[in-house]
Amino acid sequence: MKNQSSDTKSTTILEAAKTVLEMNDQGSYTVPAKGLYPHQWLWDSCFVAIGLRHLDVERAKTELLSLLRGQWSNGMIPHNILSDQVHARDKNIWRGWLSPYSPDDVNTSGITQPPVLAEAAVQIGKKLSLPERRTWYRTVLPALIKHHQWLYKERDPHNEGLALQIHPWETGLDNTPPWMSELHDHQMAGWITLIKKLHLEFLITMFRRDTHYVPAEQRLDTIDALALYSTQRRLRRKRYDISRVLTHSLFAIEDLTFNCIFIRANQHLVHMAKTIRFDLPHELLDSMQKTEAALEQLWDPYSSQYYSRNFVTHTMLKEPSIAALIPLYAGTISQERANTLVKMLENQHLFGPAFPVPSVPINSTWFNSGAYWQGPTWINTNWLIIDGLNRMGFKDHAAALQESTIELVAKSGFSEYFDPLTGTADGVQNFSWTAALAIDLLRTKG
Ligand code: GLC
Repeated sequence: MKNQSSDTKSTTILEAAKTVLEMNDQGSYTVPAKGLYPHQWLWDSCFVAIGLRHLDVERAKTELLSLLRGQWSNGMIPHNILSDQVHARDKNIWRGWLSPYSPDDVNTSGITQPPVLAEAAVQIGKKLSLPERRTWYRTVLPALIKHHQWLYKERDPHNEGLALQIHPWETGLDNTPPWMSELHDHQMAGWITLIKKLHLEFLITMFRRDTHYVPAEQRLDTIDALALYSTQRRLRRKRYDISRVLTHSLFAIEDLTFNCIFIRANQHLVHMAKTIRFDLPHELLDSMQKTEAALEQLWDPYSSQYYSRNFVTHTMLKEPSIAALIPLYAGTISQERANTLVKMLENQHLFGPAFPVPSVPINSTWFNSGAYWQGPTWINTNWLIIDGLNRMGFKDHAAALQESTIELVAKSGFSEYFDPLTGTADGVQNFSWTAALAIDLLRTKG
């Protein structure tokens, strides 16, 4: 009886999730949510593909291939491919065409996002027969190699093994505390400080697109939103040329989440190459090893956790965030350190409230249960942590988090994020990666 009702519940969630993906489907790619997010986003499409592979593996492949049409000739995969029809003015905000490397036939942003593509490609591969998988890997691997080579060449100029990011949007965790605290301390443009001083934020708020869709208290505050916008304009002025950007700005961070995802993506590249008996370039293999070793430099022995690091000063950014748990997903850390992270996950004052995993630990002064990446629970970071827990041998913890994540969606729907204390829905509704990853979590449940 119990099984029957849980089967019915799963079917209901699956059907509803499918409807959300259909609603946001643009033919060859899926928007994160109609209205607020009208373009294609890099890591969103990857998470979507991870779910879609259970419904229609060909459509999941198309989702990834459609990302590759945006790849720049230098290898960068941009975080956004911009729609021509909806919010057409966004392409003028980015002006990707200012870079000689941007493609001619599509408009893109000028920055990247966490390299989840290799993960999605391999998850699709799991659904294919060996000959089909080989063909699939042969199709995507060249672009992925180029992308990873770009990350090393342009984003690791000192050959340290860690990739640097130049905008918080590149981490996908837009207003996460380590980045915002750097921005507040060193980078706030004079005109923004003036607006703050004169309390003129309300004037800007009237023109914000996001607060038309989501209550203002669930988004970045206006000063932070302006700071992100002005950082983006600074990059545009440098035509997204990394040497010019780094000469003129001190705002470059070796982000922990990004680099953990990079490490896992490297492992996937090695796996794909092996499957098709292709030799990865030696230089790339050396760099990959360096990255795994360099992650350990981000460990802080005083507080027993990993942090992001300022690229220029090498100062650790000791502001608390969910990034602390993502080394589990990298999978290369020692068992002892993994145990320490799992203790943080279990602790109800840190990452273990009623509806985990919060994007900032509960006891932090930054914690705000409804404020975007400063408190709410997000399904994609849960997915990364579940995957990491499984591979690091914490099967029970992984199963418990998988179950509680499914419960959260069952209770509150396919929201963009959730209040970790009450489980209520926050952000936009009918959010694609929530739907897609719910499908994946249901389908891979033990
Ligand atoms: C927000 C999120 C980012 C996501 C994008 C589209 O900017 O912070 O992670 O990719 O929305 O959903």
